[in-house]
Amino acid sequence: MKKIVFTNDKGGVGKTTTVANLAVGLSQRGKQVLVVDMDPQADVTYALLGQRAPEMKRGYLPPTIHALLLGHHSLDQVMLHGSHLYTLRHNPVY
Ligand SMILES: Nc1ncnc2c1ncn2[C@@H]1O[C@H](COP(=O)(O)OP(=O)(O)OP(=O)(O)O)[C@@H](O)[C@H]1O
Ligand SMILES: [Mg+2]
Repeated sequence: MKKIVFTNDKGGVGKTTTVANLAVGLSQRGKQVLVVDMDPQADVTYALLGQRAPEMKRGYLPPTIHALLLGHHSLDQVMLHGSHLYTLRHNPVY
């Protein structure tokens, strides 16, 4: 299993674009890909899933990477399955 981390303190340098396109490209070639969106902007979640995770309302914690790290949801509850592309989405923090 290979792990690839995309991180850069500078904004707007292509992190999200690179992650989304690499993930889709690798999955189309038959690789099993798990995207872990650790960015509170949740842009790669939006790029891959077409929608942002629901915001927290009245104490409800949606099944996101945030909830997983807090121990409120299990990995199975949080992981969204595609054919070869899986996503651990981030809840946007505004
Ligand atoms: N290889 C590329 N060639 C040209 N434009 C690119 C390339 N990669 C990304 N861009 C463009 O650069 C802009 C910033 O890209 P992106 O949102 O992926 O950056 P980011 O590092 O994730 O930004 P942020 O720090 O805000 O999360 C976007 O308009 C995107 O379309
Ligand atoms: Mg980004």
